[in-house]
Amino acid sequence: MGKILIAPSILSADFSSLGNEIKQIEAAGADWIHIDVMDGQFVPNISMGAFIVETCHQISALPIDVHLMIERPENHIKSFINAGASSLSIHIEGNPNIHRTFQEIHELGCKAGVAINPGTPASALMEILSFIDMVLVMSVNPGFSGQSFIPQVCKKIDEINNSISRNNYRAIIQVDGGISKGTLPEAYKAGATCFVAATSIFRHPAGIHQAIKELRASLE
Ligand code: DX5
Ligand code: ZN
Repeated sequence: MGKILIAPSILSADFSSLGNEIKQIEAAGADWIHIDVMDGQFVPNISMGAFIVETCHQISALPIDVHLMIERPENHIKSFINAGASSLSIHIEGNPNIHRTFQEIHELGCKAGVAINPGTPASALMEILSFIDMVLVMSVNPGFSGQSFIPQVCKKIDEINNSISRNNYRAIIQVDGGISKGTLPEAYKAGATCFVAATSIFRHPAGIHQAIKELRASLE
């Protein structure tokens, strides 16, 4: 089994003690902190902005992985990178000049990811796969945590994984939405190596440490 990355999404964290929650995911061996940025336009919900990215960056040494679910992401790239993002993912949907935005992300020294919704086919990514560091495959429709994993996306993960291997591209595949110990193994088998989870980590009845342990153990 190759190395997997666990990226807890703080969307389901207890914001009354965010610092403590971050310390707990760090101590439990999380690899990245995933931050879901929503603008109430691209998705129905409004969440958090660059200020929270900066806060997380100040209190943690973990890489900060920012998922932008916003319209006109190109207008905000700089502020998220200045706030400490180490990777920035933007959606293929509704971004006609996506190459230019990836170029800007790279020029500012950040990793670039492309996110793809469950209803968008893998073929939409083919022209940009060689430019990017990560594909973020949404396994729910973005906007909220706590939704159920859509198993059909595994076929798409497999398809994207095949294109990456065939062409020897560097991109890794991240999967986001409804990830738990029950769903992680099928996404892994399809080719994902980075797993975002909000509910199954921050709302686990036995706590964050146990949650991350169970996610890793699901592959044993
Ligand atoms: C959904 C976000 C996800 C979400 C995952 O719009 O992109 O990162 O927080 O939440 P769970 O793990 O609860 O599905
Ligand atoms: Zn996300």
